[in-house]
Amino acid sequence: PFEVELHRTGRTVTVPAGTSILRAIRDQALPDLPYSCEQGFCGTCQQRVLAGEVAHRDELLTDAERDDSLLICVSRARDGGRLVLDL
Ligand code: FES
Repeated sequence: PFEVELHRTGRTVTVPAGTSILRAIRDQALPDLPYSCEQGFCGTCQQRVLAGEVAHRDELLTDAERDDSLLICVSRARDGGRLVLDL
């Protein structure tokens, strides 16, 4: 598991093994957060990351986009670290 801080919302959610960041945020904090494919190819779930090391698991984003964003349906925190999102 790892933690994701929602900077603007002022909440922190825990992402268990086997659960996406998207699902954890929808379940614990923001039930209306948009998504579509949940497989890392449509881009609907793209969010800005403010801090933390991302383990990118999508095939869509460019290297430049990966500098400050991630697709939260598939990507995770690297090595159990903490992410801070602009949400
Ligand atoms: Fe489609 Fe995440 S919901 S890329």
